[in-house]
Order: sequence, then C-alpha cells, then structure tokens
Amino acid sequence: MERLILDCDTGQDDAIAILMAHGAKNLAVEGIVAVAGNTTLENALENTLKLTEDIDFNVPVYTGSRGPLIRKQIVASAIHGESGYDGPVFTKKRIKKSCGNGIDFIINTIMQNPGEINLVATGPLTDIAIAIKKEPKIITSVKRLIIMGGSLSKGNVTPSAEFNIYADPEAAKIVFNCGIEIYMMGLDVTKQTIVSKDFMQKCIVKQKEKPSRSRQVFIDGMNFYIASCMKAIREAPSMHDPCCIAFLINPSLFSFEKHLIDVETKGELTYGETVDLGINENSNIHVGIKVDTKQFFELLFQSLQ
Ligand code: BDR
Ligand code: CA
Repeated sequence: MERLILDCDTGQDDAIAILMAHGAKNLAVEGIVAVAGNTTLENALENTLKLTEDIDFNVPVYTGSRGPLIRKQIVASAIHGESGYDGPVFTKKRIKKSCGNGIDFIINTIMQNPGEINLVATGPLTDIAIAIKKEPKIITSVKRLIIMGGSLSKGNVTPSAEFNIYADPEAAKIVFNCGIEIYMMGLDVTKQTIVSKDFMQKCIVKQKEKPSRSRQVFIDGMNFYIASCMKAIREAPSMHDPCCIAFLINPSLFSFEKHLIDVETKGELTYGETVDLGINENSNIHVGIKVDTKQFFELLFQSLQ
C-alpha cells in the first residue's frame, strides 16, 4: 500500500488524478491540499471539496497557499475555464469544509510517519517550498516527492517553461535544490498520454452499459478540456497530473533517467525553465522519460469503474 498526500490546483487533469487515486486499491490518500495555480485558491478549494464529496471520496481536504512566493499570480482559464474546473455539474449542496492549514498538515503527516508518505504535487510548488523552509526535516522523512512539472525540452506556457513551474519558479528552485528525492513527471513523459477519440468513445460506451459517477465526472470534464485545448493549443489534452498517480499505482509503466536540474528565475525569455544540466547518476532528480501509453490508458479506464 502506498500512502500519499496530494497537493493540487484542481482543474480537469488534477481531478482525473483524484478520480484515479480514489479508484486505486493499492493507494491510501491521507489528505488533499488545494493550492492556487490553474485558478484561484478559493476555486481550487471549492473544486476539490465538491468533487470529493460528489464521488463519495472520504478524504480530508486542506487549504494551501493563496499565490506564488514572489511572482504575480497567473491562472489558466483558457484551458480550465472560469471556475478552474468547468465541465462537470455538481448539483449537491456542498457540506464538506476545509480541515485547516495544508502546510502544517503536510509537515505533521510526514514527520509522524517517517519514510512512509509520498508527497504528490500537481500544481505550482508553493506549498512544498514553504513546508521545506518551515520544517527542513521533511526532506529526509518523506518517502519521495512526485511532481507534475517542467520539461527537458520545450515548455507549454512559454517556449521554455511548463505551466506549474512558470506559475512559481522561485518555489520550484527551492524544491529542486533542497536534495529531496524527486520524481519529475515533465512534459517529456506526460505528452505521451494525449487522450484519443477511441479512448473517449470506449468510456462513453462503457458508461451506457454500466454507469459510474466517477466515469461520468471524467467524461464531462474531458468534454470541456478537449474543446478548450483544441482551441488554445490545437491538440487534445495530455493526462499530465494523472501520470503521478499512475506511477504510484504501477511504477513499472514509467522509465526514468537521473538528471541534474535547476530552475531559471532570472531569464527574460527563459523564466521558469527547468534547465537540464545533464545525466548524473548521483542526482536526486529522477526525470520521467517514457511511459507505456497503452497500459497507462488501460489503468485509467480500470480506475474509473
Ligand atoms: C499542468 O498545468 C496545469 O494546467 C495542469 O493541471 C497540469 O498540472 C500542465 O502543464
Ligand atoms: Ca494541475
């Protein structure tokens, strides 16, 4: 059983990561922390509370950071919509509330369970950087930090930067330089999980045969996400954030290389780039290079049952 904390800025693909974690028999989610990223903190928290309540996922939700450490906040409403998670309709009145401060929750959970907790970050790294600064002992007490962010090649928000790193480069720099064991799911690997029309069709057919609320939420979120990505970036969306959860469910789907990586915080054109300083067997940063795409989508399909 893998125990984890998910720190996320709940938009469509963060939500799929939550659906996958909920459906996985070998994962135990200790809590979810909502952070500002794709959208405001209020929206990210609201989306997380509504989603987990709607799918009967009995997991505590906490409040993370309101915005990046230094830079001005950016959001991605062209991709995720005004709410940060447009698409699914949650009709139930929300009862669930935040359980409190997410950074203290991260620190306390890791420190009380040394070597046991996987920390998964699928939004900007603001909360993780603050937690590291507040309690540096989490660096050696966490089992591993799995992040969706960065790229060894091109970016997706600027020519050189990926969104989650660009949204808080100063936080990412702290995280990448602190020595924590990082598994980096960057665009190099996540772009191997572009959703196909056939996969969506398979989900729609299955939903008619054997309805599941998780699958319906997935389909409704994807309908919005596919349309917005086609409009904004002219390609179907990748399952960026779900890669982190798929790795925890079945690590053998992914292959990694150890690289030295630093984060650019000064460059006019390269702000937020994860700069590849080369392969180095002594590095603590495992960069995702390849995923078994077929098996990944099989796992996603199973998780939605
Ligand atoms: C990342 O940016 C966000 O829009 C997605 O949720 C994902 O975490 C991809 O660059
Ligand atoms: Ca995200």
